[in-house]
Amino acid sequence: MRLHVADHPLITHKLTVLRDKRTTSPVFRQLTEELVTLLAYEATRNVRVSEITIHTPVTETTGVKISEPRPIVVPILRAGLGMLDGMVKLLPTAEVGFLGMVRNEETLEPTTYAERLPADLSDRQCFVLDPMLATGGSLGMAIEFLFDRGAQDVTAICLLGAPEGVAAIEKQVDGRDVTLVLGAMDERLNERGYIVPGLGDAGDRLYGTV
Ligand code: URA
Repeated sequence: MRLHVADHPLITHKLTVLRDKRTTSPVFRQLTEELVTLLAYEATRNVRVSEITIHTPVTETTGVKISEPRPIVVPILRAGLGMLDGMVKLLPTAEVGFLGMVRNEETLEPTTYAERLPADLSDRQCFVLDPMLATGGSLGMAIEFLFDRGAQDVTAICLLGAPEGVAAIEKQVDGRDVTLVLGAMDERLNERGYIVPGLGDAGDRLYGTV
């Protein structure tokens, strides 16, 4: 597994505002979008491209375009949805699939309640969006889901990660092609499975408590 933790003052600045409990939902949504676009730049470093020939007004030259089959972006509902706009801004030709997952707040175990993905993901590069890598339960389940359908490689973009979650994913992927891109690596999980210092419940911060 490859792990990339962002190290850029602009990302740290935006994350600091995001963490602040006084930040309102509209600002939280805007910052999430901006952060994902910045993280997507790193996450797409290995996106597959094919060489093409084009004509500039001056001459013929070669360039590249994103290969077929197109990459697929998979936000994990609900909170991952807040990351989608920031991702497709940078990768507008990607297809989008959805995975709905919820974690039981007592056992912290995830269950899948919705799925809208192609049946065959053979050869597809998949980009999973999940803002909080806490225990790794839902992200791990999503990664298995994608590999079971034939995905070639999976890159997960998370705003924050806990060491416990990163270790869980690393153990689970066991040599398969998985990249984790984090905005920051936080200290730990608390007894309720929240990331510390974290930002609270990402879904609630994005959309209000429901
Ligand atoms: N999910 C969240 O939204 N926040 C956390 O801190 C952990 C999981």
